[in-house]
Amino acid sequence: MSIKILTNIPGPKSLELASRRSNSVAQGHGTVCNIYIAKGEGALLTDVDNNIFIDFAGGIGTMNIGHSHPKVIHAINNQVKNYLHTCFTVAPYESYIKLAEKLSSLAPINIPCKAAFFNSGAEAVENAVKIARSYTNRMGVLVFSDAYHGRTLMTMSMTYKEDPYKKGFGPFSPEVYRLPYPNNQNELNFDNTDFDAKNIACVVIEPVLGEGGFIPASKTKMIELKRYCEENQILFIADEVQTGFGRTGSLFAIEQFGIEPDMITVAKSIAGGLPLSGVIGKSEIIDSVHIGGIGGTYSGNPVACEAALAVLEIMAEEQLPKNANIIGETLRTRINSIIPKCPWIKEIRGMGAMIGIEIINDKTGEPDKERTNKIHQKALENGLIMITAGTFGNVIRTLMPLTIDKDTLHEGIDILVNAIIDH
Ligand SMILES: Cc1ncc(COP(=O)(O)O)c(C=O)c1O
Repeated sequence: MSIKILTNIPGPKSLELASRRSNSVAQGHGTVCNIYIAKGEGALLTDVDNNIFIDFAGGIGTMNIGHSHPKVIHAINNQVKNYLHTCFTVAPYESYIKLAEKLSSLAPINIPCKAAFFNSGAEAVENAVKIARSYTNRMGVLVFSDAYHGRTLMTMSMTYKEDPYKKGFGPFSPEVYRLPYPNNQNELNFDNTDFDAKNIACVVIEPVLGEGGFIPASKTKMIELKRYCEENQILFIADEVQTGFGRTGSLFAIEQFGIEPDMITVAKSIAGGLPLSGVIGKSEIIDSVHIGGIGGTYSGNPVACEAALAVLEIMAEEQLPKNANIIGETLRTRINSIIPKCPWIKEIRGMGAMIGIEIINDKTGEPDKERTNKIHQKALENGLIMITAGTFGNVIRTLMPLTIDKDTLHEGIDILVNAIIDH
């Protein structure tokens, strides 16, 4: 075990940037690590003071193919030589079409699909809701406890956690209803709901809760939910912004639940770090929107589309969904081995390499955010970048690149294990 003790965290250059930041950047834009990055390669990030970190956060799940993947850089460079942007609405280009074709053929939906592209995950979710409303002529949106769907008004209304995402930002969008997330613990019950099923346009659900704590939905309850949607002509939308692109052991997580969604939202790792998101869904549904009803100036930017096409090739060539399972198993084995001496680990859970480690106070059994933050800080000081999740902020989540090599993975896990044992 070679734990790197970095003595210089944050180093002088990072400190100087932090000081400039505090004078110029909105303080509402939080930060997880107090170091500033100069370079990224594979699963490693180097800061401005030349400290090297193993990245188990991957830009909150945007870097499944790793930092600076040569194929993505090549695709971007090729596009940059030709043009940067034209706006698909004004002067369209082939890469948008190619990506729509490719994603429509890969989506786990067995009838013809179409796609539309946007910039952020929130924008994709918001557009999926617009499309569902247009198709069904209904207004209601059904979401779940602990859900995270974004920061725009509509997606903030769909998001569960009050602080920091909603605090002081109301009033929220109406016609958003919520049920307990259908995991192994919660009941999925449609009696005595505060909504009329005939008014619900769509259900929007993360197959594994992301920000909500890396909790997978129960397969049987997802099947039940889908049945309820079919009985009531409600569209089923899988929000795969965080679960997407190989992270859970399949290209889309929903594949593992044995149900076919009507639409899927994608973002994050789709374009190897460039801002791109999309809605993929049954053609009849996607085409229910009138011409001009969806779009946006930068939606489906050509550089991002070329990057996404390269990402999809890399996913297949490097068998990244399979790697996700190997990474997840390696992590589970190591964490399970320390549970007997760390009673503050409540459980390790997740799908593929989307793993959450829940930390509690071993005396009270309550969520322990303070200990979780100490583990995070200790890991950072030893060269590991991680992020946390969960409504109580007490879940360590792993979003490392799926291209991470075995030695780097083990070194990162060593640092994590050491930080958990020590705190
Ligand atoms: C499941 C899910 N949906 C939507 C979003 C919003 O994506 P973005 O931050 O790109 O707007 C996120 C972001 O974390 C997410 O995890």
